[in-house]
Amino acid sequence: MRFLSTTAVAWAGSLLFFNAAASPMHHARDVTPLSSSDLAGLAPYTQFARAAYCDPSDTADWSCGEACSANSGFQPALTGGDGNAVQYYFVGYWPSQNAVVVAHQGTDPTQFLSDETDIDIPMTNLDSSLFPGVSSSVLVHEGFANEHAITAAQILTTTKSLISQKGATSVITVGHSLGGALAELDALFMTLNLPSNIHVKSVTYGTPRVGNPAYASFFDGKVPDFKRVNNEKDPIPIVPGRFLGFQHPHGEIHIIQPGEAVSCPGDDDATDAQCTIETVPNITEGNILDHLGPYEGIYIGTIFCT
Ligand SMILES: *[C@@H]1O[C@H](CO)[C@@H](O)[C@H](O)[C@H]1NC(C)=O
Repeated sequence: MRFLSTTAVAWAGSLLFFNAAASPMHHARDVTPLSSSDLAGLAPYTQFARAAYCDPSDTADWSCGEACSANSGFQPALTGGDGNAVQYYFVGYWPSQNAVVVAHQGTDPTQFLSDETDIDIPMTNLDSSLFPGVSSSVLVHEGFANEHAITAAQILTTTKSLISQKGATSVITVGHSLGGALAELDALFMTLNLPSNIHVKSVTYGTPRVGNPAYASFFDGKVPDFKRVNNEKDPIPIVPGRFLGFQHPHGEIHIIQPGEAVSCPGDDDATDAQCTIETVPNITEGNILDHLGPYEGIYIGTIFCT
């Protein structure tokens, strides 16, 4: 368990304390089980998130193997990144949904978990040239915001041009892990920069916390069509810790075991035992392998790009 640094172990105890302290009133709200068709309906988004790990030369002509052939009609328009300083990404048109899809790659899970368990993660305001009109009380993870900013303008330009060329009526952002955090920021970014008749939807997998409570409630108001899918005991969704001032927006779907998932109410305060913050109270209770899947039979990560 090389990801368990001593720092991580040291704060794991405080995380448990703060989880309890942060929600003194345990709201008795129920989870909603997902129907099997709702669960199966996630597959195309899962395959897009998986394809984001494939080399841009393979997503450029949509020849990345299973992940690409699962969404066979997709028309890529822009691919890039180097998988290192800039995560791979792609933007394209999905005819069956008349949508533009924007996807970002994630990163090495064990390294990522250890980075995000650092007790000193800087937060920053969103860049007002990319995110116009956001209150200064909204703070986000500085590393995620910087990474998002590298590709934001180019992705927006391509998205706008696909909307006008194809008459697309929605934009869908997807990603896993760090890519989930980037897709979450992209969902807000697109909402703030596209005309209001363009519907923005986002589906993310194994996403860490991106911002503070003001960010979460701002996001909730702007991006109602949001699902963040957490698999079993994946610890990535519980970092960075709530005790460090981070909070998820709404939209948790928790896969309890293959074939069984629930939709969790609220933001990051669903106290039901079936939701992530109760299932994974601290990272020692997590299992990083669950980060890779299976998300209803589909694994996501570099080695699953076949
Ligand atoms: C993690 O959570 C479990 C279950 O609540 C608890 O038994 C354990 O002591 C916690 N570990 C740490 C390091 O806080």
